[in-house]
Amino acid sequence: MQEYYRDTWAEIDLDAIEHNVKQIKALHPTKEIFAVVKANGYGHGDVEVSKVAIEAGVSCLAVSGLEEALCLRKSDIDVPILVLGMTRLCDVSLAAKYDISLTAHDEMWIKELVSLPLEKSVKVHLKIDSGMHRLGLMNEEQIQTNFALLKSAPMVNLEGIFTHMATADCDKDYLSHQIKTFKRLIAKLDLSEVKYIHLENTATLLQKEFDFDHGIRLGLGLYGINPDAKFIPIDFELKPALKLLSNLVQVKQIKKGDKVGYGATYTAQEDEWIGVVPIGYADGWTRSHQGRHVIVEGHECEIIGRVCMDQMMIRLPKSFPMGTKVTLIGDKMPVERVAEEIGTISYEILCLISDRVPRVYKRGGKTTNIKKMRFE
Ligand SMILES: Cc1ncc(COP(=O)(O)O)c(C=O)c1O
Repeated sequence: MQEYYRDTWAEIDLDAIEHNVKQIKALHPTKEIFAVVKANGYGHGDVEVSKVAIEAGVSCLAVSGLEEALCLRKSDIDVPILVLGMTRLCDVSLAAKYDISLTAHDEMWIKELVSLPLEKSVKVHLKIDSGMHRLGLMNEEQIQTNFALLKSAPMVNLEGIFTHMATADCDKDYLSHQIKTFKRLIAKLDLSEVKYIHLENTATLLQKEFDFDHGIRLGLGLYGINPDAKFIPIDFELKPALKLLSNLVQVKQIKKGDKVGYGATYTAQEDEWIGVVPIGYADGWTRSHQGRHVIVEGHECEIIGRVCMDQMMIRLPKSFPMGTKVTLIGDKMPVERVAEEIGTISYEILCLISDRVPRVYKRGGKTTNIKKMRFE
């Protein structure tokens, strides 16, 4: 097992990933699940998460780009993988070689795809824009023409059709409008040979009233997080899989009036104990965390002064020994709270954790693997 040489690490509980897949499978027992493992599995590690998710019953994976898909294939993952983003036409034959499914997102792209001189056929999913106005075709006639074109192309295997929801975590009316639009746009297509029809992301699949009888794309829920627990109350437990941890590397007492950090933006109001935590914006822990809190032995400790590239300072209620654990994300500091306090979403906090932070994988409470992205 690899070692790592710093006092900041992310702990990933693979049992939690397994638990979350099983909960979602129990909720949607008949549906094909695409585990969304783009952006390095939302920061958790795409290969490790994929392997456990597959063991737990996920049948397909989805990533953002071809590079991510190739990385999974190179790690001996052989289930269907869908690239959700746009793939360059010059890379289509590579996708075909590695049996990676692509998103057919645009009329011009489709026109050029069907005339490519491919040696091996390529699998595609036609993307319908049902109202988010990101990728996809939005006009009924255009959809019918391109569907027919893809279906009749000898080197194309049209295996899927899908859309994406813009407001599943905040506006049920618009969500319902998008589902209706999708159903209307695909109503006249002969889908008998299309293996995968999918539209539900985590926020949609957690809401029973929007149940759509086809495949689901499980992203944030896989990692144990509800996109908005107030908007989407659930009656089962999702277990957050990731903790972001560090150790105090120095503890000192400063005097009333002393300043802390770049720009000297913090002034001690009295004699104070402070600690130095070896994490900074180069680890994805941005400067916007200034003024928030981390947990030290159950105490909420304020992040004081500016977050530096590699370190930050916190105010302690008393002296603690060097090496005392600091929880940035984890027990008593869920990622949802971290995100809310800096005006963002859990997705962003997790994806930003950089490759400088080693990932320590746990199974049954024991460390099974340590991954240092930059050492491979
Ligand atoms: C096209 C697409 N499908 C599915 C997902 C997964 O969404 P979630 O993480 O909310 O489940 C995403 C995430 O960004 C996406 O872009």
